Amino acid sequence: MNLPFVLRGIDSGREYDPREIRYRGEDGELLEVVHSKTGRPVSRKTLQERRMSHDPIDVSGVWRYRELVLPLPYRHIIVKPEGNTNLYPAGSLENSGYNRIGRYAGVENLYLKHEGENPTGSFKDRGMTAGISMAHYLGATAVACASTGNTSASLASYAAQAGMKCFVFIPAGKISYSKLAQAIAYGAVTIQIDGDFDAAMQLVEEVCISLKVYLLNSVNPFRIEGQKTIGIELIHQLNWDVPDWIVLPGGNLGNTAALGKGLSELFQRGYISRLPRVATIQAHGASPFYRSFKSGFSEFTPMQANTIASAIRIGNPVSYKKAKQTIEFTNGLVETVTDAEIMDAKAVIDRAGIGCEPASATTLAGIRKLQNAGTIRKSDRVAAILTGHVLKDPAAIADFHEGKLPGTDPVLRNTVQHAQPTLASVREIITRVLNDTV
Ligand code: F0G
Repeated sequence: MNLPFVLRGIDSGREYDPREIRYRGEDGELLEVVHSKTGRPVSRKTLQERRMSHDPIDVSGVWRYRELVLPLPYRHIIVKPEGNTNLYPAGSLENSGYNRIGRYAGVENLYLKHEGENPTGSFKDRGMTAGISMAHYLGATAVACASTGNTSASLASYAAQAGMKCFVFIPAGKISYSKLAQAIAYGAVTIQIDGDFDAAMQLVEEVCISLKVYLLNSVNPFRIEGQKTIGIELIHQLNWDVPDWIVLPGGNLGNTAALGKGLSELFQRGYISRLPRVATIQAHGASPFYRSFKSGFSEFTPMQANTIASAIRIGNPVSYKKAKQTIEFTNGLVETVTDAEIMDAKAVIDRAGIGCEPASATTLAGIRKLQNAGTIRKSDRVAAILTGHVLKDPAAIADFHEGKLPGTDPVLRNTVQHAQPTLASVREIITRVLNDTV
């Protein structure tokens, strides 16, 4: 059966049959999915009605948009369901504890889309449900990825659900134990590589081609199709009223690529009549995309990456070219923030009762920086994507609150108190806190 989409090389425009297993074009270029149907394949009304349905395929915040994502025969769809993540209003004018986030950012209308609320605790589940479903359609029995932790946790879970063998390649000693624990628990064969993520990424592509294992990193264009739904669902939640900015972290740049593709399709198909500006925020020590942006995208040089935000410790992002298109198409920008700025911003998000992992907090740190520079205006409507759950990196939380991270703001610390098992000892702590004006 023919599928209603093809694969196309992003540079050459050469087309490939999606039933053929390939991750890149003949000359190594990235591929993208091009849908045959143009216009609006599904109405906004139907999309809204699907929110009321109990069918997992409608309930999923990915497959609800299936005509725009990956129109596959239903029997191949591996759904949890995923998506439907909360969009927290956190602007400075908000009448709740969340407003401390907006105050920190200096923005009146701020929304946080919490992708850490996905089934395995990160935004990766959106791309993974699409990727694993395509793997199922293609008859794959074994899948693999390289990862800084979240992709591997997600793939391991979906592979278990689909009954496939799963191999994950992770940089030894460089990912959070919570994420490693997920991959192990979900039964993936976990292979630690003596090298960084970029080395693991290169290796896994080679391994998959040589050993006939299906590759599910975001170089796989079907992953990007599912990943697009963060932006689609976000704008749907805002009742199709497009924000001025969408801000997200950048590592391997699959998410920036996907966001741009989704927005561009919503625009071309007439679901929205204007585009938000996309701002990708990188950690200062892992910022090859930012450096390239600063050169007007005239050059791109991979770098040795280092940052406390281990999810985005990536120096040679695979989706660079697609992400560049996103920034250009949306009149967007790329910014960097320091590790101390990331961890301070994370403490603010955490303290409001929302919480996220370090990489996600680049968004708030970036918005604050861009607002201070006058690029983002106080009155702009800004949506930030929080990519991972607060429990993804407890070690970073402990280090921050124990004051082990140089340059972070001591005022944001919440030190664990110690007491004797006596009323007097505890009274001293409680009285001090109750008298505290902060
Ligand atoms: N935030 C989190 C929590 C991530 O795990 C990642 C990437 C990103 C942001 C960056 O997104 O790569 O699409 O630009 N994690 C990948 C992984 C690399 O292996 O889990 P990106």
